[in-house]
Amino acid sequence: MTIDVPVIDIARIERPETLRALDDACRNWGFFQVTGHGIAQHVFTDLFDAMREFFAQPADVKRRISRTVENPWGYFDQELTRNTLDWKQIYDFGPADGALICPQWPASMPGFQPAVAVFYAQCEQLSRRLLATISVNLGVAPDELLQYFDAAHSSFLRLNYYPVCPFPSAQQLGVNEHTDAGALTVLLQDDQPGLEVLQDGNWHIVEPRPDALVINIGDIVQVWSNDRYRAALHRVIASPDAERFSAPFFFNPSYDTAYAPLPTTTDGLHPARYRTISWREFRALRAAGDYADLGDEVQIAHYSR
Ligand code: OGA
Ligand code: NI
Repeated sequence: MTIDVPVIDIARIERPETLRALDDACRNWGFFQVTGHGIAQHVFTDLFDAMREFFAQPADVKRRISRTVENPWGYFDQELTRNTLDWKQIYDFGPADGALICPQWPASMPGFQPAVAVFYAQCEQLSRRLLATISVNLGVAPDELLQYFDAAHSSFLRLNYYPVCPFPSAQQLGVNEHTDAGALTVLLQDDQPGLEVLQDGNWHIVEPRPDALVINIGDIVQVWSNDRYRAALHRVIASPDAERFSAPFFFNPSYDTAYAPLPTTTDGLHPARYRTISWREFRALRAAGDYADLGDEVQIAHYSR
């Protein structure tokens, strides 16, 4: 019986053994690590250097480029996950969109923007490869699901800084338990353990590996797969002795996307378990909950049928 989050070499992703390993990991864990991803190690070290330098700045300097209700890109240190304040600081980056939505860059850090842009581009490319493979495993053409990511997809990169926490507890987590709302997440973590995934009722640490990226299935792929793949609950433990850095890239479709179980995943014995969900509506409901305690946060289960 496996108790570790699977590690899969995807250098030759189209091989039947690799397809099977990915299918098993998506079914049993909804979480896995990939090696052989082809991203050069300096892309990771450049990003960690930029993150360390950015978050080491005084709070008032970081707050000069704060995220706002109008502009989601920038610094933030008051995030709620499932209505609980997380022990972390974040910096969100996504593409410009209209006059109000645009990335905000820290002043006098020339290496920051290129490090973020290169990592974002590499994660986007990797996400496309993974989603094409997932499509094949779900019985549709490789580009069937990628069509929702053609124009103006709503992916974004988050830089997470988890400061040393003097009072870690079951109540005070780095990130409270949650599933990621989008299609899939590509995450780079440093060498400090902290990320845990729930499987069979137990929390399992996702072991840091310098050569690997962590991949997890989001709610949208769970819906497309009609629950064959799981968007696993995960959380981050706060540490009393070490700070931690991580960088999740959330691969999200365009806001116009409506998603429902794929026809290949349903039949007379397995009817569709979800109604069609609008990504624009789901995102708007979630985003409101990140800022304020509005009662129960919206979950895909609200769309069960
Ligand atoms: C997240 C998340 C995990 C980590 O930001 O959604 O799950 O290791 N982060 O930072
Ligand atoms: Ni997450």
